[in-house]
Order: sequence, then C-alpha cells, then structure tokens
Amino acid sequence: MTGSIRELREYPAWKALETHYENVREIHLRELFANDPTRGERMTTEAAGIYLDYSKNRITNKTFTLLMQLAEESGLRARIDAMFRGEKINITENRAVLHVALRAPKGASILVDGENVVPLVHAVLDRMADFSNRVRSGTWKGHTGKRIRNIINIGIGGSDLGPVMAYEALKHYSDRALTFRFVSNIDGTDFAEAVYDCDPTETLFIISSKTFTTLETMTNAHTARAWLLHGFGGDERSVAGHFVAVSTNRGEVAKFGIDTANMFEFWDWVGGRYSMDSAIGLSTMLAIGPDNFRALLDGFHQMDEHFRTAPFESNLPVIMGLLNIWYCNFFDAHTVAVLPYEQYLKRFPAYLQQMTMESNGKHVTLDGAEVSYHTSPIYWGEPGTNGQHSFYQLIHQGTRLIPCDFIGFSQPLNPLGRHHDVLMANVFAQAEALAFGKTLEQVKAEGTPDWLVPHRVFEGNRPSNTILADRLTPKVLGILIAFYEHIVFTQGAVWNINSFDQWGVELGKALAQRIVPELESESAPILNHDSSTNTLIRRYRKEKG
Ligand code: F6P
Repeated sequence: MTGSIRELREYPAWKALETHYENVREIHLRELFANDPTRGERMTTEAAGIYLDYSKNRITNKTFTLLMQLAEESGLRARIDAMFRGEKINITENRAVLHVALRAPKGASILVDGENVVPLVHAVLDRMADFSNRVRSGTWKGHTGKRIRNIINIGIGGSDLGPVMAYEALKHYSDRALTFRFVSNIDGTDFAEAVYDCDPTETLFIISSKTFTTLETMTNAHTARAWLLHGFGGDERSVAGHFVAVSTNRGEVAKFGIDTANMFEFWDWVGGRYSMDSAIGLSTMLAIGPDNFRALLDGFHQMDEHFRTAPFESNLPVIMGLLNIWYCNFFDAHTVAVLPYEQYLKRFPAYLQQMTMESNGKHVTLDGAEVSYHTSPIYWGEPGTNGQHSFYQLIHQGTRLIPCDFIGFSQPLNPLGRHHDVLMANVFAQAEALAFGKTLEQVKAEGTPDWLVPHRVFEGNRPSNTILADRLTPKVLGILIAFYEHIVFTQGAVWNINSFDQWGVELGKALAQRIVPELESESAPILNHDSSTNTLIRRYRKEKG
C-alpha cells in the first residue's frame, strides 16, 4: 500500500488519533471503568428498538470525540445525503445506491434519473403479495392442479445469502405447511439434496438472479428445469406453473423460458448484497406472509431514518463503523466477530460476510489511488453459546485482538424453563470476561499452583459491543440488517472507497470459464497456465476416470 492523493491519513483527526492511540493503547478497561463509575450507563445509546452498549471498548471521551471529528472531516454527512438523494455514488458502475428506496413508505419520493422509483417498488411489492397469498392459500396450482408444498430458491451470493438468512431468522413466523430449500452451490450435491424428497407436481422454483447470467445459478436453473420436465414426462407446459423468476434482466428470463408475467423485477440501483428486501425476498414473503414482510421493511426504514437524521454522536451505525475503524486502523485488528445469542440468527454472520467484505474489501480509493491503510476487517462468527465451546478460547487468551459484537434479545421466541436466562447470562458473562479478565493475583488467591497460574490468567482488555433488542420479530430483523448496512457505509465513506462494486470476483470467474473446457475435453488439452495449475488439471483429468 502506497500513498493516495487525498490522503485520509493527512486529516487532522486521523493524525490526532495516531498520537492519541499511543497515549491510550496500554490503558486497561479495568482502569477506565474504575475511574468512571457511570461509564456503563453513559456509553450507551438507543434508537429504533436497538440498545447499544459500547462502554467495553478501548476508548476514552477523547477517542470518541476524535472519531466523530474523523467522520466529519471524511465528509460522511455529504455521502449519506448523496446516497439518499439517489446520486450515482457507485461510480465504477455509474449507478445509484438505493436499497433505502426498497423500504421507503408509499408516498415517499426518491428520484433516479428524474423518475420517482418508490411507486415502482410498491407495485412490485403488491405483485409479490398477491402471488404469495395465492401460493400460501393454494389458489396457485401446479401443472397437475395440485397446490405447492415445496419452494426452492435458486440463487447465489446476494440472491441466496439474504433469503437463507431471513428464512432461518424468521422461521418462527413461517408457514410450516410449506417446505423451503435454497440451492446456491454449483456442486451438484446442493441441488440433488434439495430435491431428494420433493414431488415435482408440488414444487415451485424461484430463480433469483440480478443478472440472470450467473454461472452457478443458471446451471442449477437448467438442472431444475430438466428435473421438472423429467417428472412431467417432458411436457414443456409444466414450466409455467412451477418456475418464477426474480431479476433485473427481462430478456434473459424470457430466453430461459419463464413467462415474464411470472417475473418479479428489481433494478440496477439495488446491489446484490443489499437486495434481500427487494423481490429477491420473495421466498421470505412466501414463508412469513406479506404483512410480516412489510413489517420487516418497516424495520429497515426505521433504521434508515435514524442513520439519515441522527447526530453522529448518537447515531448507532456511525458509532459502530467508527469503532471498527479505530480497531482496524489503529490497533491493527484483522477481524470482527459477530456473535448472535439467538439460534434463529445462525446464518446472520454468513450473510454479513458478503455484506461487509464484498463491500469494503477494496484496495483503491474512489479516485483510483492505492489506499495507505487497511480497509475491511474479516467478519466471522457463530451463534452463542456454541462458539464458546469452539473458538472463544482464542478470543479470551490468544495473541490477537478480536473486537466482538454480542447480539441478544430480552424475550425468547421459544420460552423453555430457564433456557433464556442462562443464554443471556452467557452474553453478559462473555463481555465481562473479555473486558476485565482475571489477574495473576486473583488466580493465585484461588490457590492455583504456581506452575498453572500463567495458564489461567485472562489479561482482559478485549473490546466488545453489546447489542440488545426486545424480541426477534420481522421488524427487528429489518432494523438489525439496516444497522449493519449503514455500519458498512460509514466505514466505506471514511476509507473513501467504493463500497458498492465487486470487481474482485471477476478474475476467478473468467479463469474458471477458461478451465472448464480443459477439464471436459476428450483429448488432452494444451495447457498454458502456470506449472502448478497445469499439473493440478492433468492430475484431475487422470483421476476423474
Ligand atoms: O459474486 C459476485 C456477485 O455478483 C454478487 O455480488 C452477487 O450477489 C452474486 O454474484 C449473484 O449475482 P446474480 O444475482 O446476478 O446472480
């Protein structure tokens, strides 16, 4: 990484943070809490149904002020306004970035190239609702007149991760008479297992692809078509009752053979990883029903409004985004762990991986200059308490600093005896243990033999945020997702990068297209790769039989 033209590192706030870091890096959270008994109440904020406790971060009042100053100097406010105004802030693709329009209420006005897109959004939502009601009530019939029992979403990346995550997250609200499956991987196992016990006469495929050209999705879609036709003795007319599409590409949908009357549209100003609240959420709406889907959108919108209007000092996504920058760029932390203490959120970390890393895994600034600072940390995680019995050892006693986001809910969806209190006790205990640890003196005082003492010491001073909401409802899920979307936005704005393109996925795709015929050809192909790739291809060809 070398210097860029408009250097973030030259901002007064950045320079001040560098000096400040040297002064505070050794301060322990024990000391910060001891010196300020109100810290745990003061360093909290609440909006749109989310309570954020950020007191267990390695920050002082001065850190907070300087981070806010950094946001101001980076022009975050102008960037937020530009997004909400529909400006083409995705400069490398010359596109507006308007996932916020997907959840704008009827009557709002957001212009793209002079056209108000909000009525378009609501027209599609109404069509989705009508379709969902018909499938859920059994009015929509398959080719033989049977009602649909199985719904299989075929898509990948943003056309899969959001739908899977939302289905799992909102299963509690879903119609249990319907079975939902999600096929993404080009590995044939994914499709084979998804249809293993499905009757084609009762199965509906949703082909979800923004471009409708993605290799994995189109391969799986063609396999699904063949599977269906096989089940209907080759009767092409069966496709109409069993295939619908979600896409921006009407032409390709028609070419595939899906009636465009059964296509649900979205637009190029919706990024794939920001599309689960567009028609890409059709499987979600089918599962939870239109009213719950609208509540989900309302949740997104509430967080949008908070992000758009709240002062930075009390703006949840701004605070969180800046804290990530503090650890990533000053403490050199490489990762962030997201740890939901809610089993229904088991796919939430996987969903966030695309949202955060495809967005902010960038090496040049908006003007194309190489950045001179790290951009996106690696996001990862698992639901608690499972992770505690797996990788938490490293978070507590390893050599790396891993800021953690703990997510918990006050009310369980499945109240069972003591379960929820014990679950939440673990949230609070983990954050407490990470922050305060256990000193050598404390370990000794417990009568631990001298040789064992170092092994049992917890140095503490490991930062975390605790995010609490009352209950995992569709609305709260929307709030939570929009919260992270805007955290990512905040980071990208400060780093001065384009969070909305993804050129980094292209090279591997192109190379795979070149290698496919080399694996498939009857005769030994002439290979012009490097010696490693050539040898691997030859070995694979020999062994595949
Ligand atoms: O992996 C790259 C990507 O373009 C993602 O950004 C996107 O979500 C995914 O592929 C799927 O694309 P599509 O919806 O066009 O099939």
